[in-house]
Amino acid sequence: MKDQAQRLREIVNTRKKPNFQAISITSGKGGVGKTSFTVNLAYHLQKLGKSVIIFDADLALANVDILLGEKPKYNLMHLLNGEKTINEIIYTSKYGIKFIPASSGFEELANLPLEKQLYILEALQEIYYNFDIMLIDTSAGLSENVINFCLASDKTIVLTTPDPTALADAYAISRVILTHKPINMELGVVVNMVEDEEEALKIYKGMNSILRSFIGKSISYYGYIKKDNKLSESVRERYVLSAAYPNSTYSKNVRAIAQTLISGKEPSTEPNTSFWKKVISYWKNLAIE
Ligand SMILES: Nc1ncnc2c1ncn2[C@@H]1O[C@H](COP(=O)(O)OP(=O)(O)OP(=O)(O)O)[C@@H](O)[C@H]1O
Ligand SMILES: [Mg+2]
Repeated sequence: MKDQAQRLREIVNTRKKPNFQAISITSGKGGVGKTSFTVNLAYHLQKLGKSVIIFDADLALANVDILLGEKPKYNLMHLLNGEKTINEIIYTSKYGIKFIPASSGFEELANLPLEKQLYILEALQEIYYNFDIMLIDTSAGLSENVINFCLASDKTIVLTTPDPTALADAYAISRVILTHKPINMELGVVVNMVEDEEEALKIYKGMNSILRSFIGKSISYYGYIKKDNKLSESVRERYVLSAAYPNSTYSKNVRAIAQTLISGKEPSTEPNTSFWKKVISYWKNLAIE
């Protein structure tokens, strides 16, 4: 798997802008919020001045188009069949977010052979130079397709929720990625659907310490997203929450993650606020007593 990923990575690393980043968004368990996060993250990165494209790498069960409220005519299937070029399948949504649509219901896309994965990445080479960031929305689980796309990226974000089964699966996929990870690739976690940041930090620290003791490698912390019922509504109604409600909790949390991703700084494991949160909660407890 490492050699395959190396080949994919070499392809990604040619002809790109100096600061270009390919960022995969993945998870062990399905339905933890990857596609919603990807779409909202793209929106904020764009607002922060980056040119962004989403690659829908959930190849057989495409969802990016649905969440953007679009119905593109052409998709990766047309690229793989040789009917269309990569530039012909790029779709610009009404939010100005560009994406490469996948298709739905083609089983053969779920487990693409390596030559086809290489074919897609080679086609992507033609467009790298036009963008600062490519977000890759993967399917859930430990398939070779997913792991290869993650290993070929500059950063991979493992999204999880506090649910114990989601956490167990997040740990499993992180372990596989960390085991094969090239030295200059960064793996980080975003904890979704939490009550507050403390809950996210506890989860992150737990995951990190297990990974450190079992495989001797660390994972970064990219941030947290609180549970926000407005998000479920936006998915049902097919609009991008951050565009419609920039001040919603979900939007603010995703914007903070976008800023971390482009800050160029080492992602923090101990946000500055945590010290003050502890002090404040200590004071509050004193007041109750
Ligand atoms: N922060 C949040 N607050 C409330 N609900 C959320 C949040 N994040 C995600 N959800 C809910 O989770 C559902 C699944 O989200 P989404 O489709 O983005 O997950 P996914 O990980 O891409 O799923 P799949 O693995 O099937 O591709 C959404 O429809 C939404 O209702
Ligand atoms: Mg999805």
